[in-house]
Amino acid sequence: MDEFVTLIYDGKEIQLPMVTGSEGEKAIDISRLRAETGFITLDPGYANTGSCLSGITFMDGEKGILRYRGIPVEQLATKSSFKETAYLLINGRLPNRDELTRFSVMLNDNSLVHTDLKGFYQNFPRASHPMGILSSMVNALKSFYPELDTLEEEINITMTRLLAKVRTMAAMSYKISRGHEIVLPRPELTYCENFLNMMFDTPVTPYEIKREVVNALRVFWILHADHEQNCSTSSVRMVGSARVNLYAAISSGIAALWGPLHGGANQAVIEMLTKIQEEGGDCAKIVQRAKDRNDPFRLMGFGHRVYKTYDPRAKIMKKMCDELLESMQITDPLLDTARELEEIALKDPYFIDHHLYPNIDFYSGIVLRAIGIPTNMFTVMFALGRLPGWIAQWKESTDDPKWKISRPRQIYTGNQEYDYVPLHAR
Ligand code: SDX
Repeated sequence: MDEFVTLIYDGKEIQLPMVTGSEGEKAIDISRLRAETGFITLDPGYANTGSCLSGITFMDGEKGILRYRGIPVEQLATKSSFKETAYLLINGRLPNRDELTRFSVMLNDNSLVHTDLKGFYQNFPRASHPMGILSSMVNALKSFYPELDTLEEEINITMTRLLAKVRTMAAMSYKISRGHEIVLPRPELTYCENFLNMMFDTPVTPYEIKREVVNALRVFWILHADHEQNCSTSSVRMVGSARVNLYAAISSGIAALWGPLHGGANQAVIEMLTKIQEEGGDCAKIVQRAKDRNDPFRLMGFGHRVYKTYDPRAKIMKKMCDELLESMQITDPLLDTARELEEIALKDPYFIDHHLYPNIDFYSGIVLRAIGIPTNMFTVMFALGRLPGWIAQWKESTDDPKWKISRPRQIYTGNQEYDYVPLHAR
């Protein structure tokens, strides 16, 4: 039986259909609202507005649930490779052995980048932020691979090419920023091993690939791989809705992720923890600042639009952080500060009442520091993890037979009509 809601307004009423998702989530379909009532809805930040139907990722913010194509993220983080998770998100199911082998071969075959791209890097000012470079370079890929991406086969090659090359481009950016020779990908290494080797191998000190570090990177990227309609994914869908090429759509997602309220928070957390330490380590003072409505400061790495309980990814990240530092026999004083901050905040009525818990960015920076990633590349690491999710979401939107350009409406609050006043009369 079709469900609907009745909207009563100005003595009239309209029935709007209800939509129910596979996990019982409910929405009111307002597609006909303006045509039949002249009204639009208003929802700044889209906190109550669904932009699409999607079968890729399910989140339950109250219960702290996250599943990719139905598989709990906890199981993928424990049992799958990042390549498998990327394949799952993009193709809707886990690959069989042949499919995984073919996917690996395609990733390897496409992991080199055109040598002319090196010139692009060398023209960025040395202090350029790696996220600005990455967004520009991904957009530039269309100039080097101008094939149409309309046919299924071409789209598959473009998606795999992007997954293969962005990892190489990120490592290139780091090497060039340090004035070091670029390290090329090696076919015998796994996706994660290759990235670490391209980042840290040098002719003087060959990089020693350590199991625990590769595993930490695998889990880090799986935890970041998708998160339904977050700001950057919505940017990819929005820009993609104008039927631009995949590279341009992904470039817009990278730009959105850069923001400190979004993916840039992992860098902001480390800067916050470092500042706390430099100012004497008073965590209680920083928590007070975060609670002060007159102070724009926010506790970075805390809070989430969807999760109103502990971010399930943060739980895994925190546990992995402890395990990695112990296996590497390193200590990070910032971890002690992070733990103290979490302990104070989770007991504080403000944070409890506002449902503010650690999100994925709170401990992820400590993991990246232990791996040896420079702080200004933390959000690039988030982007490399999120890439399969962005690709999957772009593909799902372009495959949608009802797909149309995204164009929200507004309520105008500016001047009412008045005539032009000549300059001499102003
Ligand atoms: C990511 O969407 C995703 O899925 C994103 C992400 C993904 O995987 O793609 O999960 C990745 O972006 C994680 C979030 C990273 N950002 C941060 O850690 C930055 C710090 N967090 C906040 O800025 C904030 O919590 C947001 C941006 C994450 C969420 O903001 P909302 O949902 O718009 O909530 P809000 O800003 O309207 O805050 C609601 C209330 C306010 O208080 P009141 O005015 O109602 O009294 O909660 C307060 C806020 O002041 N609040 C905080 C806070 N976060 C919210 N107060 C102090 N510190 C914080 N961190």
